[in-house]
Amino acid sequence: MGERRRRAHAMLFPFPCPGHINPTLKLAELLHSRGVHVTFVNTEYNQERLRRRRGGGGELRDMEGFRFEAVSDGLSEEERASPDRTVKLYLSLRRNCRAPLVELARRVARCKGVPPVTCVVLSGLVSFALAVAEELAVPAFVLWGTSACGFVCTLRLRQLRQRGYTPLKDESYLTNGYLDTPIDWIAGMPTVRLGDISSFVRTLDPTSFGLRVEEEEANSCARAQGLILNTFDDLESDVLDALGDEFPRVYTIGPLAAAMHGRVGDRASGHGHSHGGPPGLSLWEEDAACMAWLDAQPAGSVLYVSFGSLAVMSLDELAEFAWGLADSHRPFLWVVRPGLVAGDRGTDALPDDFLAATKDRCFIAEWCAQEQVLRHGAVGGFLTHSGWNSTTESIWAGVPMICWPGFADQYINSRYVRDEWGIGRNAAKWKAMTEAATAPGGSSYDNLDKLVDELRQDEA
Ligand code: UDX
Repeated sequence: MGERRRRAHAMLFPFPCPGHINPTLKLAELLHSRGVHVTFVNTEYNQERLRRRRGGGGELRDMEGFRFEAVSDGLSEEERASPDRTVKLYLSLRRNCRAPLVELARRVARCKGVPPVTCVVLSGLVSFALAVAEELAVPAFVLWGTSACGFVCTLRLRQLRQRGYTPLKDESYLTNGYLDTPIDWIAGMPTVRLGDISSFVRTLDPTSFGLRVEEEEANSCARAQGLILNTFDDLESDVLDALGDEFPRVYTIGPLAAAMHGRVGDRASGHGHSHGGPPGLSLWEEDAACMAWLDAQPAGSVLYVSFGSLAVMSLDELAEFAWGLADSHRPFLWVVRPGLVAGDRGTDALPDDFLAATKDRCFIAEWCAQEQVLRHGAVGGFLTHSGWNSTTESIWAGVPMICWPGFADQYINSRYVRDEWGIGRNAAKWKAMTEAATAPGGSSYDNLDKLVDELRQDEA
C-alpha cells in the first residue's frame, strides 16, 4: 500500500473579535483554495453564536479539508458582561487556551483523512499561541491585523517608553501640544506626531495594560517563522523595506478584502484573490434590508458611517454625530451596534427627535455586510474609526474616507489615509492598485503563492 500523502495542515486561531476573525478567515479560505488543509479555531462562545445563526447567512460549514473547531475562552458570564471584557478576554485566553489548543491539534490529527497540523497561524493579541506551535514542533506565522506602519509603530512603543516619550508626565500633556512632538527617527516612516503613533502613548500609567500588552505582542512576532500583513507592497513600500531588516520573512498579501464570496453586480467584482469558499462568519446578524435601501439611493450619494466592532463612544459624542449627520442633509447609512455607547445601549441611545428629523434619508442598522455596503454604487463616502480592516475594505472599494480614530493603530492609519495616500483625492487610483496587487502576477498574489509554497514545502 502506498504512503498516505502528508498534506500541509494549518491550524488558525484568531483573537475572538471581528477585526481579527474576518481577515484570519479570509486567509484560511485562501490557503484552503490553494490546497492546504485548514482547521479554523473559534472560541466555544463564538462558535455557539455562529451556530445559533445557522440559516441566517452565517452558517458554519465544514468542507473537505476545512473544518471549524472550538476551545473555551474561559470567561465567566460576569467577566463577559464587564465593560473591560476585551482585557479580561485577552488575559483569560492567555491563561486557559494553550493546553487545549495543543490537545485539539493532536485530536484532529487522529481523525480519518486528516493530516497532522504542520503550522499554526495566529492573529495579533494571541501570542501565547506561539508556545502551542513550539510544543507541537511546527512553525508559527502571525497574521498581524494592522497596516505595516501600524505594526512598526507598535514595535516602537518600546523605544518610545525607553526614551521617556511615554507614559506622559501629567494630565496637561494630553492637551498642551506635547502630543504634536515630531517623531522623525522611525525607519521607513515620515515624520509623524507622537499622538499619531498609537492611542497607547496617551497614558500616565507606567504599567498601562494597552502599552505593555501591545508592545509585548508586536515584539513577540520575532519568534514566528513569518509575519503576514493585510497590506500590499505599493501602499507601504518604505516602511516595508525598513521592516525587512528586522523581519526577513514578511508576506504582504492584502487587501484580504479582495478574497470575495462571489457577489456580483457591485462596484468591484470578481478580481484578485477571488475564490469560491464558504461565506464569511459574522457574529452579529447582518441587516439585509440596508442593501435594498441602498439600491433605491442615487449613485455615490450615501455616506456610510461605522465605527467597527470595538469602539465605545460617549452619549455626547453619539449626539454630536447624530446632529452632524442630520445637518449634512445627505442620505446616510449608520451602523449603531449594541455597545457602541457604554452600557450596551444600541439605537435607543440616539437623541429623541433624531430619527424623525432624518427618516427620509437615513437607514440605521445594528450591523451590516460592510464589504458589500462599501462596494455598493450608492455609497460615496465612509465615516470610519480607521480600523485597519475597514480602511482596506474602503480602499479596495474605492471609497474615500472621513476618519475619526480613537484607539490603538487607528491614529496612524488615519494619518496615512490623509497625508501619505491622499485617499480623498486618490481613491480611484488606489482601488486600481489594489486590483493590480491581488490579480495574478500582482505582488500580493505572488506573495500568497510564496507563503503557500513555504507551508507546503514538506509535503510528501
Ligand atoms: C480591531 C481594532 O480596533 C483596529 O484598530 C485594528 O486595526 C483591527 O482590529 P475593529 O475596531 O473591529 O478592529 O475595526 P476594523 O479593523 O475596521 O474591523 C471591523 C470589521 O467588522 C470589518 O471587517 C468590517 O467589515 C466588519 N463590520 C463592521 C461588518 O461586517 N459590519 C458592520 O456593520 C461593521
